[in-house]
Amino acid sequence: SSTLIHKDFPVLFSEEQIHQRIAEIGKQIDADYAGKSVVLIGVLKGAAIFLSDLARAITVQCTFDFVAVSSYGKGQRTSGAVKLIKDLDQPIEGKHIIVVEDILDTGLTLNFLRSLFGQHRPASLRIAALLDKPSRRLEQIEADYVGFKIPNHFVIGYGMDYAERFRNVPDIRLMPPDYPELH
Ligand code: PRP
Ligand code: MN
Ligand code: MG
Repeated sequence: SSTLIHKDFPVLFSEEQIHQRIAEIGKQIDADYAGKSVVLIGVLKGAAIFLSDLARAITVQCTFDFVAVSSYGKGQRTSGAVKLIKDLDQPIEGKHIIVVEDILDTGLTLNFLRSLFGQHRPASLRIAALLDKPSRRLEQIEADYVGFKIPNHFVIGYGMDYAERFRNVPDIRLMPPDYPELH
């Protein structure tokens, strides 16, 4: 009903669980890139919150860049086609890059970006995804750093939206399937 607000949505991961897991991933990245410098590439807009917390969980030298790709739109379904809307600001040739995503779902977005960035000859390319929905995969791709594997539920919060809303919800919650369509 229209009186349902996000505080009533069931919590999937609390702020504490998220920050705990990101601290672990940060330690892994510190170990893997010791003595190196990395470029964190966030995929707008969903990855913005995860990137900002992940960046502060690592101590190796890093810089930020951001790309934007065509979006799911307002509904809960993917359109299938991916195209670049905002390119990188800095060249990545010879750099160690980590593509940072909030969620790996069908794999279309990250597969597109992996092959695009691969053409720029980075020194290395890894993927960090806070959430992974393996059951939804249409293209074969795995993240190198995964926060949590989840079943096929539509989730919001911590950067993730429904019709551009709820990105600022600090934890990750399940979207009720009967929630009214937003415009
Ligand atoms: C979502 C999510 C990932 C992508 C994952 O972005 O943030 O970027 O979809 O789905 P895929 O694996 O099926 O490609 P969305 O297109 O909703 O844009 P947004 O980040 O601006 O919300
Ligand atoms: Mn996204
Ligand atoms: Mg979205």
